[in-house]
Amino acid sequence: MSMMGHNAGEGAPVRSRYGVDLATTKAGTPGGVFMRQFWIAVYDSDDLPAGRAMPIRIMGEDYTIYRGKSGKPQVIANRCPHRGAQMFLGWVEDDDIRCIYHGWKFDCSGRCTEQPAEEAGYNEKVKLKTYPTGEHMGLIFAYFGEGEPPHFPPFPEPEGEGVIEVRPTTAVPCNYLQCFENSMDEVHVAFTHAPGGTHAKLAHDLPVITAEETPWGMMRFGTRKDGKVRHTMHLAPNAVRVFVPANFGMDGVGGWPDMTLIFTPVDDENCRWFATSKVFVSGAERARYDEKRKEMLQKVKEARPVMDVVNDIWSGRLLYQDVRHPFLARVQDIAVQAGQGAIADRENEFLGRSDAGIIAWRRILARELRIIAEGGTPKTWAAPSPDIAPVMGA
Ligand code: FES
Ligand SMILES: [Fe+2]
Repeated sequence: MSMMGHNAGEGAPVRSRYGVDLATTKAGTPGGVFMRQFWIAVYDSDDLPAGRAMPIRIMGEDYTIYRGKSGKPQVIANRCPHRGAQMFLGWVEDDDIRCIYHGWKFDCSGRCTEQPAEEAGYNEKVKLKTYPTGEHMGLIFAYFGEGEPPHFPPFPEPEGEGVIEVRPTTAVPCNYLQCFENSMDEVHVAFTHAPGGTHAKLAHDLPVITAEETPWGMMRFGTRKDGKVRHTMHLAPNAVRVFVPANFGMDGVGGWPDMTLIFTPVDDENCRWFATSKVFVSGAERARYDEKRKEMLQKVKEARPVMDVVNDIWSGRLLYQDVRHPFLARVQDIAVQAGQGAIADRENEFLGRSDAGIIAWRRILARELRIIAEGGTPKTWAAPSPDIAPVMGA
């Protein structure tokens, strides 16, 4: 193994057992180049009404996202090319955006179309950087890499009659990779989620984990003592598609959704979880589902913010085992995963047989990052075909 290391600053280890920094997604690093080959989830569709502009931070860089009056979402540079005012402060006009500082107006391709105080023609010299933006299953995605983006949507909608359900997004104070790794760790369910909540059904025994690389990422298998096998799809670079128990408060209505959970790097020490799913309800069950969901969202609204509860657990004010919350599984997951540290220490671990999924993904990720670091040609990733789906296995 190459012992070429990164210089992470004074006192930090300069060697990595992987030869590269697996966790960083900073621009220009191998991890940053790797991540920027893919569509990245950046916003919940419902949180961005037409005519609204918002600041976002993705992989350590700031951007503005806005939705034009026609409904079209667009990610653009955060700063105006004139004198650097923040674009999200401006006005959305039709599908264009006008800077708050001196009124320069840009269309959604970044062309400067008006400069109220300048001479005609000067506008043609100016360009605002824009990023390919698309919407799929209730989430907004953007592409931050060089050249043409890959195929959109990045993954197909699950087949079958049903509704798209987006669970509220969560800011999580740790690096995205330990959350993605946790999604490969089915054994944690029996412990992290044992104190209660929706995941109890999965907590009855310890599956044996195996995994294999695919054109779109990695398929992982969890084989239970009763012979049932759970198939979980890990979509490169940061998403898991899996059947999960119905949310708290749904009393099982709608059954187990086919969920895609995406861990978007905000910067190296923060990420944001986006969750979209297909719930297989139709006919009369649909009305019951809608009503239950309304009740559930009301309970979530009345509950304490997830991170407040996590902070109380971390300070010792709240006993982990006693916590009750509409998003209990999320509270539990964040308390444990972000509790590993802002960036988990991968140099001092004792990985075991049950970490087979994590080991397999790190091997793939390290291989790709080393190829990028050495100037080689990384793998061309494909979107999964619509007939590949996870298997519940419970
Ligand atoms: S800084 Fe944007 S128009 Fe002047
Ligand atoms: Fe979990």
